Amino acid sequence: MHTSSTLAIPEVGEIPRHIAIIMDGNGRWAKTRGLPRIEGHRRGVEAVRTVVQHCAELGVEHLTLFAFSSENWRRPPEEVHFLMGLFRLMLKREVARLDKNGIRLRIIGNRDGLSDELRALIEAAETKTACHTRLTLNVAVNYGGRWDLLNAFNRLLSDRPELAGRVSESDLWPYLALGDAPEPDLFIRTGGEQRISNFLIWQLAYTELYFTPVFWPDFDAAALDAAIQWYRERERRFGRTSEQLTTTQGGE
Ligand code: IPE
Ligand code: IPE
Ligand code: MG
Repeated sequence: MHTSSTLAIPEVGEIPRHIAIIMDGNGRWAKTRGLPRIEGHRRGVEAVRTVVQHCAELGVEHLTLFAFSSENWRRPPEEVHFLMGLFRLMLKREVARLDKNGIRLRIIGNRDGLSDELRALIEAAETKTACHTRLTLNVAVNYGGRWDLLNAFNRLLSDRPELAGRVSESDLWPYLALGDAPEPDLFIRTGGEQRISNFLIWQLAYTELYFTPVFWPDFDAAALDAAIQWYRERERRFGRTSEQLTTTQGGE
């Protein structure tokens, strides 16, 4: 019998268990208003608050936000500096609110590239919110999908060298960023581009992909509801036929 290379068929519900978002379009939002790009990033923070809150209310279990990619270091130094400063400010100011709302914060990405101060703030924020179970907010900072995969393989094989040549999907999963989360059901990219930009390349294998022209600072609760409504209308077949879906429950 042929076996699937994806481990199992995830349960499909009305509300996605895991939503992953590329928050794009801050710069263009600002440009259309004659404002500097950084103003778009500042306004983007408000959209983050709204979307986090709405996901918690809807009962989404995991929300993963792409905040800074491993490629974003190529931007002008002033913009990189501003974004790192904004991230530092968020970690200082927003964690109390997350804690109060029962939200667990985790940062995914390569921390080696971040300052000592940021690393310390991240660790403190993760520890403070570690006990929460309502919603897990994963923020990807200095994250790249290829880094994630290489990092996972390298760590796995250094822990268990005997697995070389026969690594299985279940061996690898725990070493990936989001290793203990269900795979994303719904991916959203704002800002009009239709690409993955080195986000969760392994984890998005069977995710429903939703693209909207709305710039991130304008993305609000209604826009999220529209994406979820679109998601509900998808038929998630995972390789099977439509007919099988009506007759079979799960099955590998
Ligand atoms: C997304 O908005 C935010 C980050 C990548 C940090 P952009 O800054 O990419 O905005 P556009 O794509 O230039 O409009
Ligand atoms: C992707 O956005 C990264 C984040 C949103 C953090 P970019 O705006 O950097 O993506 P590309 O390079 O245009 O594809
Ligand atoms: Mg962009």
